[in-house]
Amino acid sequence: MFRFKTIAFLIVVASIVLAACAPAATQAPAATEAPATAAFGTAPCAPNCQYSDMVMGFLQTGSEGGWRAANTASYKETAAQLGVNLKFYDSQNDLAKQVAGFQQFIEDPEVNVIAISPLEAAGWEQVLKDAHDAGKPVFLSDRRIDGNEDLYVTFVGADFVEEGRKSGTEMCKLLEGSESKNVWELVGNVGSSPAIDRGKGFRETAAECGIEVTKSQTGNWSIVEGKQVTEAWLKESKDVQGIFGQNDEMAFGAIEALKEAGLVPAVDVKVTSVDATAGAFQAMLDGTLNVAVECNPLIAPQVFEAALATMNGEGASLPKWIPSIEGVFTMLDPNLKEIAAGRKY
Ligand code: AHR
Repeated sequence: MFRFKTIAFLIVVASIVLAACAPAATQAPAATEAPATAAFGTAPCAPNCQYSDMVMGFLQTGSEGGWRAANTASYKETAAQLGVNLKFYDSQNDLAKQVAGFQQFIEDPEVNVIAISPLEAAGWEQVLKDAHDAGKPVFLSDRRIDGNEDLYVTFVGADFVEEGRKSGTEMCKLLEGSESKNVWELVGNVGSSPAIDRGKGFRETAAECGIEVTKSQTGNWSIVEGKQVTEAWLKESKDVQGIFGQNDEMAFGAIEALKEAGLVPAVDVKVTSVDATAGAFQAMLDGTLNVAVECNPLIAPQVFEAALATMNGEGASLPKWIPSIEGVFTMLDPNLKEIAAGRKY
């Protein structure tokens, strides 16, 4: 009897000791294997993944201008600061190349997260499904795509419709009292979400003051094409009171064309652009550009943050859209010079 009690006592003591040593039922399994019910995109290192565990495959559109250069720098500099292994893919503004690069990252065993700035809004269903089947979380950077929300974690970027609305509102102010309100629109690359959405937003607010968009054509985000398109239009007609450039570069091209046609940009013909890069500030300070609506290129930190959260199992709790912060700048702003001096792009 005494001995059982001793044994029982010893067993009790032993079980207490063992319980103290054994992992608690709720503690995460060893960092080698993600728990079975883990949210999509949870990495084996969860919940303690660091930026040094991240290998991001990033599909950039190409290098079409000042905004894109600032966006690329945001990725490369932030990755270096955080210690992320960034595999940077330049799609050279070629959709087929971008899709091929995407598939490359899906097959690359090192890559654990994929980010993309989609050249066009449509056509991504299959490659997104392939990434999902491969367990690779996808993040949209800068540009949205049509639908398929369940096939990507989140979109980090601007409200392009709102940028268009702001441009329309500013053009209304500039053409106040003008008898005619004929506006020409220089559009971004066809099929891209900024081109589609900025055009839609502009027409929404421009209609409120009777503006008519009498000419609209792509200038593919470039100074050269922006100038060529405007030159061709000016040969046909000079009945234009405003030019809406969907980005800075195309507006710069239009400004050159107006000058060469003997018109005074920002006076005879009002000019607005979207991006507000350093070049736009210089044009406003030179008095050739009336307004620049900002589109913020420095979004890489938010993309890396969302990717790390996803690797740590929090992907499902992220919002589907993480908006960027943006303003509107006009050549009439008395502090324009100081503002320009303080900007990173
Ligand atoms: O997606 C953003 C757009 O892409 C910028 O407004 C333009 O400059 C760039 O090409």
